[in-house]
Amino acid sequence: MIIILLGAPGAGKGTQADLIGERLGLVTIASGNLLRENIGNGTPLGLRADAYMQRGELVPDGLVIDMVTARLKAPDVARGVILDGFPRTLGQAQALDANLAAQHKQVDRALYLKVTDEALLDRLSGRWICRNCQASYHEKFNPPRVGGVCDLCGGELYQRNDDRRDVMENRLRVYFDQTMPVIEYYQANGTLVEIDGAQDIEKVGEDLLAAVGPVPAVVVEGVTDSSAA
Ligand code: AP5
Repeated sequence: MIIILLGAPGAGKGTQADLIGERLGLVTIASGNLLRENIGNGTPLGLRADAYMQRGELVPDGLVIDMVTARLKAPDVARGVILDGFPRTLGQAQALDANLAAQHKQVDRALYLKVTDEALLDRLSGRWICRNCQASYHEKFNPPRVGGVCDLCGGELYQRNDDRRDVMENRLRVYFDQTMPVIEYYQANGTLVEIDGAQDIEKVGEDLLAAVGPVPAVVVEGVTDSSAA
């Protein structure tokens, strides 16, 4: 099962990827998190990506496609995956399709979280992220149990550099220019399902799970795994 989560910055992709990933027993690959890990580790990819991310621009396709393609080869992805933040250009969508087709796979659902621009800016300005596991909180809509501390792993919470107002506005512009065509691409091939992302977090999760339906069992080396919902 290959699921893509689409939506503007702040639409709730990361929040929902964690929530439905756990319910469906699927691994999440978040391109933004992979890039931030590379920056944190000072890798050559991280050094190149950092300047683009600080300006709220997309990292060039070649770098991101190679990074995600390598991650998709890991054994934990065999059962399926939720892609958060990738693809976000037509070039990335076409590269993903070609990569999956070579493995006799395809995108099963492209789930589009739709939220108004005003709500997006509110969400991003109140967002706090765990430095350790990258879980996402909001000071008003989804606060941690203890201020500044991650509920899941006890890590320190911080605010992302690119959640500054000027960078946020650029990220939204880039999204409308470069990622809206990706939404149209999946609409045209019949895999897109639009979800009202303005509802509360639990209700959005329920709608997403209903749109996905049951995850088919897979057979890995003779063992049938149908453990998820
Ligand atoms: P990335 O990390 O992917 O950021 P993004 O797409 O801008 O999305 P966000 O993480 O900001 O938002 P989200 O939708 O995950 O929302 P969240 O769940 O946190 O990308 C960052 C940068 O990396 C890009 O600008 C680019 O430079 C680069 N990059 C990444 N992928 C790339 C690619 N494929 N190609 C090229 N470059 C790439 O929620 C937001 C807040 O709202 C949280 O506080 C949350 O608690 C709250 N919230 C969530 N849902 C609700 C709800 N239903 N009600 C109320 N509050 C809610």
